[in-house]
Amino acid sequence: MRKPLISGNWKMHHNHFDAITLVQKLGYAIDKDDVEAVDVSVHPPFTDLRSVQTVIEADKIPLILGAQNCHWEEKGAFTGEVSPAMLAKLNVSYVIVGHSERRELFGETDEDVNRKVKSVLEHGMTPIMCCGETLEERESGATDTKVVGQVKAGLDGLDGATVAGLVVAYEPIWAIGTGRTASAEDAQAVCGLIRRTIADSFGQAAADGVRIQYGGSVKPDNAKELMGQPDIDGALVGGASLEAEPFAGIVQYRLKD
Ligand code: PGA
Repeated sequence: MRKPLISGNWKMHHNHFDAITLVQKLGYAIDKDDVEAVDVSVHPPFTDLRSVQTVIEADKIPLILGAQNCHWEEKGAFTGEVSPAMLAKLNVSYVIVGHSERRELFGETDEDVNRKVKSVLEHGMTPIMCCGETLEERESGATDTKVVGQVKAGLDGLDGATVAGLVVAYEPIWAIGTGRTASAEDAQAVCGLIRRTIADSFGQAAADGVRIQYGGSVKPDNAKELMGQPDIDGALVGGASLEAEPFAGIVQYRLKD
C-alpha cells in the first residue's frame, strides 16, 4: 500500500514568524491518527526552514520538513542559490523539483529538473518531481505528450528501485491558483498515464511504489474525491496550505462525509 503524501507548498508566503505560528497551529489541528493514515509535509521558503525545523523537532509536531527548490551542485559560485547538502543538513526530507512556476518563470528545463532530482536523491532526500500541461496544451490535445515527456526526461537515468521511492506531482498549470480543478476523472486519467509510463520505463515494481500527487486548487471540499482515485496518492497544495484550518481539512479528507 502506498501511504498518501499531502504536501503544503507555501511558495513565497510567510516569513519565519508566520511560519512558526502556522506549524504550531497545525500541530494542534493534526493528530496521531491523521499521520498514521497520511504523510504530511510542509514546504516553507528557505528563510523559514531553520525555524520550522526547530519547532517541529522541539515540539514533536508530526510534520515532515520539505523545501521548494534547490540547486543541483553541492557548493560553488552560484550567487543566490541553495544546495541540496544545505537542505539535508536541516533535516529536509522532501524537495519539490521542477514546479511549473520554476519552469515558466525561472526558465528551468527538463535537463535542470533531471539534475536536481538526481542531486536531491544523492543527498538522501526525496524529490517531488512536478509535471503538467498549460491550458493551450490541454485544449490542443497535447496533455499526454507533454506529461509523458516531462516524466521521462525528469527521471532519466534512474533505476527502478530508486523510482519506486519517489514522488511525482501532476499539476495542470491552468488549475494552479485559479480555483479551477481538474475533474477527478481527468486527474485520474493523467495520473494513470504517469504510472503506466513509469511501468514501461522502470518496471512494474517502480510503478507500484511511486507516489503520484495531484496539485492545482486542491481544497477541503474536493480533496476526498481526488484522493479516492486509484492512481492519486496525495496532493500538492498551494493556496489552501497557507492557513491551518483548510490544510488540516485536506489532511483529514478521509473523515469527510
Ligand atoms: P494551488 O497551488 O493549490 O494554489 O493551486 C498548487 C501548487 O502550485 O503546488
